[in-house]
Amino acid sequence: MSRIIICFLLFSLFFTVNSFAANPGPPVIKLKMGSKMLDFTHLKHQKLTNGQCWECHDKTPGKITNWSEATAHKLCIPCHDLNEKGPISCKGCHKKS
Ligand code: HEC
Ligand code: HEC
Ligand code: HEC
Repeated sequence: MSRIIICFLLFSLFFTVNSFAANPGPPVIKLKMGSKMLDFTHLKHQKLTNGQCWECHDKTPGKITNWSEATAHKLCIPCHDLNEKGPISCKGCHKKS
C-alpha cells in the first residue's frame, strides 16, 4: 500500500518539476502598479532562486493566484529584506510610469 503512495508521490513530483521546466514564462514581466510599471526581471529571479519556481509560484507556474498589492508586497519585499539585496523602499519599485 505504502509503495503505491510513494509511486504516486514520485509521479506527481515528476509532473510538477516537468511542468515547471516546460514553460519558463517571459524573461521580463511588466507588472502594472496603478499608473506605474515595473519591469520585473523574471529570468534573473529564476536564476537567483536556482530554478526553484515554488519560491514564488505555489503549484504550477503561470499567473499567481490572487495577485494583488498585498500578494506582491508579501512575496517580494521580505526576500529583499532578508538578502539585503533588491528594493524594499516604495520608490525602489514604484518609480517608472
Ligand atoms: C521571484 C519570484 C518568481 C520566481 C522565482 C519565478 N516566477 Fe514566474 N512569475 C512571477 C511573477 C510575479 C509572475 C506574474 C504573476 C501574475 O501576473 O500573476 C510570474 C509569471 C510566470 C508565468 C506566466 C506568465 C504569463 O504572463 O502568463 C510563467 C509561465 C512563469 N512565471 C513560470 C516560472 C517558472 C517556470 C519559474 C521557475 C523556473 C518561475 N516562474 C519562477 C514570479 C516568479
Ligand atoms: C527569493 C528572493 C526574492 C524574491 C521572492 C523576489 N526577489 Fe527581487 N531580488 C532578489 C535579489 C537577491 C535581488 C538583487 C539582485 C542583484 O542585486 O543582483 C533582487 C532584485 C530585484 C530588483 C532590482 C532590479 C533587478 O532586477 O536586479 C527588483 C526591481 C526586484 N528584485 C523586484 C522584485 C519583485 C517585483 C518581486 C516579487 C514579484 C521580487 N523581486 C521577488 C530576490 C528576490
Ligand atoms: C519589491 C517591489 C515593491 C516594493 C518595495 C513596494 N511595492 Fe507596492 N507594489 C508592487 C507591485 C509589483 C504591485 C502590483 C501588484 C498588482 O499587480 O496588483 C504593487 C502595488 C502597490 C499598490 C497598488 C497599485 C497602485 O499603485 O495604486 C500600492 C498603493 C502600493 N504598491 C504601495 C506601495 C508602498 C506605499 C510601498 C512602500 C511602503 C510599496 N508599495 C513598496 C511592488 C512593490
